[in-house]
Amino acid sequence: MKPNILQLILLESFSNKNIPRIPEPMIMSDLENAKSFDEAGDIYGALVPIYLFAAEKISQMTPYSGTVLDLGSGSGQFIFLLKKLRPDLKIICIELSSEMINIAISKLSTNEDITNKEEIKFINSDMTQLQNIEYLKNTKIDTISSIFSIHHLPNELFLEKLFEEISFFIKRDDSKVFIFDHARPFSKKTPDIFPKIFTSNLSLIFQNDSKNSLIAAFTIDEILSKIKKFKLSITKAKRSKLIPLYQYFILNNENAKVNFSKLNKKIALSFVTRTQYFQLRGLFL
Ligand SMILES: C[S@@+](CC[C@H](N)C(=O)[O-])C[C@H]1O[C@@H](n2cnc3c(N)ncnc32)[C@H](O)[C@@H]1O
Repeated sequence: MKPNILQLILLESFSNKNIPRIPEPMIMSDLENAKSFDEAGDIYGALVPIYLFAAEKISQMTPYSGTVLDLGSGSGQFIFLLKKLRPDLKIICIELSSEMINIAISKLSTNEDITNKEEIKFINSDMTQLQNIEYLKNTKIDTISSIFSIHHLPNELFLEKLFEEISFFIKRDDSKVFIFDHARPFSKKTPDIFPKIFTSNLSLIFQNDSKNSLIAAFTIDEILSKIKKFKLSITKAKRSKLIPLYQYFILNNENAKVNFSKLNKKIALSFVTRTQYFQLRGLFL
């Protein structure tokens, strides 16, 4: 029998100890994996409601013509959507896998919706070594974003190093931060059934990747402990309700009195159905 959402909700509500973490490879260089993830980020793909949610938050945090530093940009699906919705933004993508960057550059070159292509810059580097990147030494960063990337870090030492790097930019540029990722489940059955419930129409490679990503995800407490170590101000730290397998963090944004820019909902809704758009928001209420 095909597993269902109710089963998943029950499994996750009856235990309170996270399953042990098994890291994924840091770099996403396997081409089949990259391709299947990339497809899920295509228009109407499974990841698009999440991308829109992230784009909306980032948009509200980032001033007109601001610069976003995106960590672990992969094949670029998220940042292309962000650029389409906020054409004024400059985006710097940090990605460890040169294969992923090549896919992103080639997709950008044929993307007719993005005109000012030179405002997206790709840097083949490590998000835990940001201060060594020459280009960033003289570039003001308004917002740092990271979507579905930090679970690739091998262990908590790398996670700590990441927040050390982020804290450098918060101190130097007063950068705002938005991080979205999976949250590690409580039940050991969850990683198997989650992709069968939500993405059974996608390739087995993608489903396997989702499963491994859940097992590799950090818990909200693991992440918060690193954020607190650098005394970064936490504006929001939320784990989704009922299906508690997503989490997001907003740092250093409490003094922002204005929402800089709302996304054009009409354009946003041309990527997803209205139900998808509100379902994800409902999870975080
Ligand atoms: C699952 S993909 C997400 C891509 C993109 N953010 C999205 O949501 O479409 C995660 C990406 O993070 C990259 N990555 C992992 N560790 C990294 C690191 N230390 N520095 C930079 N990129 C990294 C991987 O190579 C992979 O392309």
